Amino acid sequence: RDGAASGVYAHAPELTHYLQSTFVPSVVPQQDEYDAKEQARQYLEKLADQVSPGAKLLPFGSMANGFALKNSDMDLCCFLAKDAPVRSPSELVELLGRLIEQETNFYVKTLPRARIPIIKLTMPPTASVPAGMACDIGFENRLALENTRLLLTYAMVDARLRTLVLFLKVWTKRRKINNPYRGTLSSYGYVLLVIHFLAHVKQPPILPNLQRLPLPESANLDELTFEGHDISFFDDVDALPSVFQTTNGDSVGELLIDFFRYFSKEFNYAGLVVSIRSEAGTMQKTTKGWHIDIETDPEGTVRDQHKLCIEDPFQLDYNVARTVTKDGLYTIRGEFMRAFRILTTPSRSPEGIGAVINS
Ligand code: CTP
Ligand code: MG
Repeated sequence: RDGAASGVYAHAPELTHYLQSTFVPSVVPQQDEYDAKEQARQYLEKLADQVSPGAKLLPFGSMANGFALKNSDMDLCCFLAKDAPVRSPSELVELLGRLIEQETNFYVKTLPRARIPIIKLTMPPTASVPAGMACDIGFENRLALENTRLLLTYAMVDARLRTLVLFLKVWTKRRKINNPYRGTLSSYGYVLLVIHFLAHVKQPPILPNLQRLPLPESANLDELTFEGHDISFFDDVDALPSVFQTTNGDSVGELLIDFFRYFSKEFNYAGLVVSIRSEAGTMQKTTKGWHIDIETDPEGTVRDQHKLCIEDPFQLDYNVARTVTKDGLYTIRGEFMRAFRILTTPSRSPEGIGAVINS
């Protein structure tokens, strides 16, 4: 028990045990929460059908990718029937928003003129969901559905991914570095960092690059692109073992500590873009033209753009970390260093490991 010796972390076994037996079961939603959310979804889908007959409301984000925490919000996306009258997302936000307001006791806020128009709902507490529920409804966002499916497929390939992501989600929220509106990174961005780490940094790799494997026989060849974006990936988990099997047996405790080490000391933030779809896992910022630091957004605020760069797996011109300011990145890296230090301090008791979350 004397700290990190020759790349082996002394606390890793305790940490692994804590994560698997105590932490994960205590943070994931129970079945009744899933059921209540599914009920709410079905009800909202009926209302959407009144606005546009045949409309579907599909879940994406954490409720659909296996990374949900207790009381996480529900992300829904509305798709109109093929033969439905064409309406703009802004118009739909106003129509459906008004109907929900009339028919329910939900608190409704509509953002018809946002870059991505959405309806924000807050549902009051009920017996099965005592904390109430927050829900965002967007429209026709096919790429969000596809990237959710990509994350879900990665989660099914190796269970260590989900444990790491759940820990990071709780930890980044407690440490207040999971807020894209306040200069830090979305959960989606952190998940991409973990996939990069498991697929491209760890040797031998723990995850394959699902966007580079030859497509399985079951692939639907008519749906490989959407609006010019390549959305194809290897999605047949049952067929995966014939093309990829990891020989890396690192425990989640070791991986978590090593994730913190890598992103506090090793990753080249100044020069590189994290790109899970690429062969190497990273690209030069200059290759993507993402090396220009300062940009002014439409509201006239000057932001430190592209300090942290994470390429979206499908929308290649989209930097998922564009919300992260210079200060935000400084804080995030500081938190990575702090977590690494706590987890590798020799005198920590097993219970003390929770301190990395709780301060
Ligand atoms: N998304 C996206 N681009 C972003 C952020 C999010 O496309 N910059 C989409 C992704 O499909 C993602 C979903 O929105 O899966 C939800 O993102 P986010 O709220 O960050 O992740 P959750 O897993 O829902 O996390 P949380 O529980 O913190 O809400
Ligand atoms: Mg969400």
